[in-house]
Amino acid sequence: MKFLVTGGAGYIGSHVVLKLIEQGHDVNIIDNLSRGSIEIIDYLKSNGWNGEFLKSDIGDIDRVGKFLTGKNHDCVIHFASFISVGESTKNPIQYFENNVAQFPKFLSSVVFHGIEKFILSSSAAVYGNQKDNAPIKEETPLNPSSPYGTTKVMLEQMLDAYAKRNPNFKFASLRYFNVAGCNIDQKIGDVLFADKENLIPMCLSCAAGIRDKISIYGTDYNTEDGTCIRDYIHVDDLANAHIEIVEHLNNDYYNVGNGVGYSVRDIVNSCLKITARKMEVVETDRRPGDPDFLCADATKIQEKTKWKPKTTNIDDITRSAWEWIRKIKHLP
Ligand SMILES: NC(=O)c1ccc[n+]([C@@H]2O[C@H](COP(=O)([O-])OP(=O)(O)OC[C@H]3O[C@@H](n4cnc5c(N)ncnc54)[C@H](O)[C@@H]3O)[C@@H](O)[C@H]2O)c1
Repeated sequence: MKFLVTGGAGYIGSHVVLKLIEQGHDVNIIDNLSRGSIEIIDYLKSNGWNGEFLKSDIGDIDRVGKFLTGKNHDCVIHFASFISVGESTKNPIQYFENNVAQFPKFLSSVVFHGIEKFILSSSAAVYGNQKDNAPIKEETPLNPSSPYGTTKVMLEQMLDAYAKRNPNFKFASLRYFNVAGCNIDQKIGDVLFADKENLIPMCLSCAAGIRDKISIYGTDYNTEDGTCIRDYIHVDDLANAHIEIVEHLNNDYYNVGNGVGYSVRDIVNSCLKITARKMEVVETDRRPGDPDFLCADATKIQEKTKWKPKTTNIDDITRSAWEWIRKIKHLP
């Protein structure tokens, strides 16, 4: 198949591009490099990717339209987005402009060029705070607690509305839980890990001496050790979920997670263990928008497809990210 991947110069998109080319698919990429890196494009090339790259906003109809002309893509995988809960609470308009306002223009280009399969990167952030700390099913009422989560709900609604009027158009929305780790074969990884606000990259940057300390944001959550609990899915497993779902697009929503929750303290301890390095850890106030507990019930995608996560041990997940950092930073 021929895929158009938006956000392919970012962390998850690049891992998916690698899986797609390993399976013999053709892939072209659009990314404005606002949060991605040309270095990732170079890593993809060095791993055999020979598709075309357009540096552009997804909402730039002229440039995207020209790029799509004559290429006959079969499927879009849409990763391009700003992704930080914290940043979205500080600057919601930026999030609505980038993630939402550009989307109808992009979708118009996709539809105009006859692409009828669409996979959306959605997020567990659509669920927000729930009443009880139980694994979340897809039918759980959506209750985003950040503008970021709201942007993902809005994209799902736009796709749903469009698909209802156009029976040939089929989409799946994959609601990722916390995506972590780097390619197990170390062919690709998170080159911008040091700038990330995600817990594992922050801890590992600290272990690598790039960051002075890490903060635990809030120790009074309604969880056993008082810190937030999240479900961590290895990025290679997540990438495989895209490959599996593409044959089953039916305008539906799927959680993608491991179904196991780890607290912030568990993650810090895993990073201390696998790096065997020191980290200064400080406890500080809660960040706005962080729910107590987000853990997936991911049985739906496992019933629909053959997908199953393989790297489920948290130490294996953190180790794959640490090995990547050691490789690109030449650490002993
Ligand atoms: N990382 C996670 O844990 C996680 C969890 C849930 C969902 N997601 C979703 O997965 C997707 C990919 O996340 P990631 O972690 O790889 O983020 P990332 O920031 O590494 O990648 C996003 C890419 O999109 C590009 N981009 C952003 N806005 C764009 C625009 N308007 N036009 C063109 N390019 C644009 C950026 O330059 C970047 O390369 C996002 O949609 C995110 O919301 C991520």
